[in-house]
Amino acid sequence: MLLLALIPLFALPSPSTSQQIGTYNRESHPSLSWTHCAAANTCSPVNGSLTVDQRKRWLHPVDNYSDCHWFGSYDWNPRFCNTTEVCTDICALDGADYRPNNGLGASFANTSVTLAAHTWKDFQTNVGLRFFLLDSSSESESPKLYQTFTLLGNEFTFTVNFTATGCGINSGLTFVEMDADGGMAKYPTNKAGAEYGTGHCDSKCSRTHLFVGGKANLENWTPSEVDPALGEGRYGACCPEFSVWNSNRRSYSFGSHLCSGNGYTICEGEEGCAVSDGADVAKTRCDAVGCGYNPYQMGDRDFYGEGKKVDTMRPFTVVTRFEAERVYQIFVQDGKRIDTPPPSWDGLPKEGGISKEMCSKSAEVFGEPDRFGAKGGWDAHVDMLKRPMVLALSINPDVSPFPPWYTEDADICSQFETGNSWLDSVHPKGADTSKPGVARGDCPTDGPWEVFAAYRNAKVTWSNLRFGPIGSTIDL
Ligand SMILES: *[C@@H]1O[C@H](CO)[C@@H](O)[C@H](O)[C@H]1NC(C)=O
Ligand SMILES: *[C@@H]1O[C@H](CO)[C@@H](O)[C@H](O)[C@H]1NC(C)=O
Ligand SMILES: *[C@@H]1O[C@H](CO)[C@@H](O)[C@H](O)[C@H]1NC(C)=O
Ligand SMILES: *[C@@H]1O[C@H](CO)[C@@H](O)[C@H](O)[C@H]1NC(C)=O
Ligand SMILES: *[C@@H]1O[C@H](CO)[C@@H](O)[C@H](O)[C@H]1NC(C)=O
Repeated sequence: MLLLALIPLFALPSPSTSQQIGTYNRESHPSLSWTHCAAANTCSPVNGSLTVDQRKRWLHPVDNYSDCHWFGSYDWNPRFCNTTEVCTDICALDGADYRPNNGLGASFANTSVTLAAHTWKDFQTNVGLRFFLLDSSSESESPKLYQTFTLLGNEFTFTVNFTATGCGINSGLTFVEMDADGGMAKYPTNKAGAEYGTGHCDSKCSRTHLFVGGKANLENWTPSEVDPALGEGRYGACCPEFSVWNSNRRSYSFGSHLCSGNGYTICEGEEGCAVSDGADVAKTRCDAVGCGYNPYQMGDRDFYGEGKKVDTMRPFTVVTRFEAERVYQIFVQDGKRIDTPPPSWDGLPKEGGISKEMCSKSAEVFGEPDRFGAKGGWDAHVDMLKRPMVLALSINPDVSPFPPWYTEDADICSQFETGNSWLDSVHPKGADTSKPGVARGDCPTDGPWEVFAAYRNAKVTWSNLRFGPIGSTIDL
């Protein structure tokens, strides 16, 4: 049997070579205290902790301080392995270095976490970050598990402080239907599990994972030409997700994303991993677009943004309620409750958030295929809310770490032209903004470069995460 040996480096002999490695480190999860409410006024703190996604970890041969996935080329390093079997067998994920200023770009306080979109250290860049919340009760046990949440009938509350999360940046809080153990039971070659941030999946069926289903994803691995942190292999990981928060200072949206199957499923190749943003609905695994709500897209351009009704230049609190009939959000700023506005387009229900009616009509009103309906619609969505989900916290600029003057190649630039425009500007690019659904926010439409240059220091702080039955986490 093949083993993905995941021995933290501190357990290895001959530490004398460790001085040559800047990232030599024991996995020690940063804590994040959150609040669980059993009922109103019956809340207690939970000593949770966070783990960083495997993608941000050092991957090296078990008994060698070199790289299995080579920093210089962002490809699998043929000096050590050139087949799925061998790479799976010999490559180990290491503990992450969570200390501040370590290049990862994250900092932690007891009840809050700050993630930076982009950091540089020692000529290395780190672009985008993803963390998962671990189950505190499994912290002293093996295997450690992710914290899971069953959303139906409950509410999830957090406070957010943006500093420079401007256009093109997506800070996200997402519930994904990952395996609580990271897939260790299902895929025995995965020895790392939740503790080392393995097993991520989402409705984008991403093929960028270094391991899928416990196996090295090196077949057909193609490093990205523009972003050394990215690349794609043959296999991808799909699962349903509920994104509670996709946001920057100018725009936000939340939405439900269904898949043909439940839980973590493996897809294969470009066609097999196609998702519904663009592709033929019937042939896709997941609905990456989702049934969502963005007040700007729904017609209210004064609700959310800098100096707007919800003023994103100052911290505010967001409550997301998962009712069987509707999922909606309530904002709180300066102690005042601010309800989300109903859509203003004809044909959509007159209440904020998403509901059966909203999800079945928005595709028609926006002139798009009914992707959500094709994956089971509202009933499938309610089923998803009954299943345990893992919380992922992320920030992602969706652009290359290199500034535009690094490359003048138009083809390369165009690969990044979306720059999260689905979130904060015009989507699809060039579409008529007077048409319902096209305008998503007031960010510029002319590519991500200038936008990104202005927001290199983008970061987001989430604090005071709370979860419990509807009405229990906050006094509104
Ligand atoms: C959580 O941590 C605090 C501070 O370290 C400690 O006082 C408290 O007992 C812990 N709570 C639980 C439920 O373990
Ligand atoms: C790691 O492997 C390389 C290539 O096989 C070898 O040259 C080097 O000595 C090894 N280093 C250690 C510490 O084993
Ligand atoms: C993999 O590496 C081995 C040993 O270096 C070599 O003999 C073999 O030809 C390589 N296989 C492929 C497919 O490159
Ligand atoms: C962290 O915050 C929680 C809840 O606010 C509190 O109960 C706990 O004592 C704090 N722990 C530390 C180490 O400050
Ligand atoms: C929000 O974040 C900024 C930058 O990190 C900080 O200066 C400011 O004090 C924070 N605001 C609050 C109310 O915490």
